[in-house]
Order: sequence, then structure tokens, then C-alpha cells
Amino acid sequence: MPDLVSKAVREGLYTHVVGRRILYYPELGSTMDEAARLAAQDAEEGTVVIAGVQTAGRGRQGRSWISRPGNLLLSVLFRPRVSQLPFISIMGGLAAARAVRKVAGLDPRIKWPNDLILEGNKAAGILAESAIEGESVCYAVLGIGLNVANYPDDDEGIAGIATSVNRVAGREVSRESLLRQLLMELDDLYRRLSESVQDEENGPVAEWTGLLDTIGRRITASFGDERFDGEAVGVDGHGNLLLRLASGEVRTLTAGDVTLSGTGASDGPPPG
Ligand code: BTN
Repeated sequence: MPDLVSKAVREGLYTHVVGRRILYYPELGSTMDEAARLAAQDAEEGTVVIAGVQTAGRGRQGRSWISRPGNLLLSVLFRPRVSQLPFISIMGGLAAARAVRKVAGLDPRIKWPNDLILEGNKAAGILAESAIEGESVCYAVLGIGLNVANYPDDDEGIAGIATSVNRVAGREVSRESLLRQLLMELDDLYRRLSESVQDEENGPVAEWTGLLDTIGRRITASFGDERFDGEAVGVDGHGNLLLRLASGEVRTLTAGDVTLSGTGASDGPPPG
């Protein structure tokens, strides 16, 4: 859909950093790889790479991401400070939630660590990757896959687990409007990253935490070969999950290491 970007921009893309440069590819292996390749060539912060379809889309923990036409598949290049790095992924989930709420009028929730959930099923996934040298961040790439048009029941393996914006809205939601809003929300959140995001009572982390439907639930966390059953009692200022075990001990779980089950929203294979 070559019009996707031009329509999104034509309707007014008001951003400072995100979208300084927007590249659209009808087909790519993965927008993550293309954004990283551009980053290594000194591409400017805010560069957005969008694919119509991906042939090697990837998700967290080495999973693949089904990337059919009609959805949003994009990566954004940032050059954050080390202290900002933990918030890049949070920013992606929150921006996607805001965009879906404002454009589609839906009520998305977030399943920790950062799956966008609509009516109990996964509608979007967030992937943050970075390159660090010594004490400094060379770049961070934030990948967002948002199911807009897909009817995941057509895909074996994700039926009953994944959903899409159109499906839940019961109508065709403008992909261009979703893209434009998503980029504007990312821009807003990235600028606020320079301010104090952790301590603010009404800051982005608090807003993101408020969307988490994992808190208060009994969950099983898989950590390598180990499994922990407990109650998700909260998140810390970096978005790590606090799990209270039967012994009373509270464990801090970091997103990269853990798979959850038993939250009501499955963490099964990724949607497309
Ligand atoms: C997950 O939930 O596991 C994260 C999925 C992230 C998918 C997006 S689609 C755009 C970008 N390119 C990729 O290859 N992956 C991310």
C-alpha cells in the first residue's frame, strides 16, 4: 500500500523527532534489521522504517511475527541516553495503546511486558533492540507490529490468541490515521523521556502501569527452565514486574527473561 505514508503525512504529521525521515518498503525481511542497518550508517534519530509485508518478521524471545498486508509493521530509530533505554519499550506500548484508543475508540490494555490486548487477545507486539558500546548507546530500534486488518483466525497457531483492530472495532479503521497518531504519540513520549518519567505521578510510566492488566493476577513466570507461581503485585520504576511468591518473597522479573501464563491473555505464538 504505497499510499500509506503519504496519506498519513498529508493529513498532518506534527512531530519534532519521530518521522523526520520515513521510509516505506512494500516488502522487507524485518524493519528491525533495516533500521539497524541505517543506524549503523548514521541515519538520523527519528527515522521510521515501514514495511508492507515482512518475510522474516521477528518477535520477542526468538519468536517469529506473522507479517501479512493490511497491518502496521514499523521500526523507529532512536539515539537515547543509557538512562532512557529502559523506557523505549514502554513508550512503544503506551503509544500504540493511545493511538488505538484515540483513532479506533477502543479500550486497549497491556499484558506485561508489553503486549497490546483487545478484548483479551493480542493485537500488537513491541520489540526494542539496542546497540551499546561501553557506557553509551549507539542506537535503539523500537519495533511495533499492530494488527489492523488481519483476521488471525485464518492463521493456524494464532487463532483464538490474536486479534486485530478492525475485528474488535467491527469496522474498517483507517490504517493511515493509526500510523499518524502512533508516530505523534511516540514523538510526544520521547520528548517527555528527557524529563523525569519515573517519579511523576501522572507521567508516562504511571499511565502505562495503569493499563497493565497483569497486576493483581496469579501468574506463572517461566525463566529458562525455572517456573515461578505467584501474584503480580506491581511494577518498579523501570517497568520490571514484581512477583510475590508463596513464600512471601518478592521477585523482580525483567521482560527479556520471562514468559507469563495464567493471566487470562495468552502469551502464545505472536499474532500476524
Ligand atoms: C512480540 O510481541 O513478540 C514483539 C513483536 C514485534 C513485531 C514487530 S513488526 C515490526 C518490527 N519488525 C519486526 O521484525 N518485528 C517488529
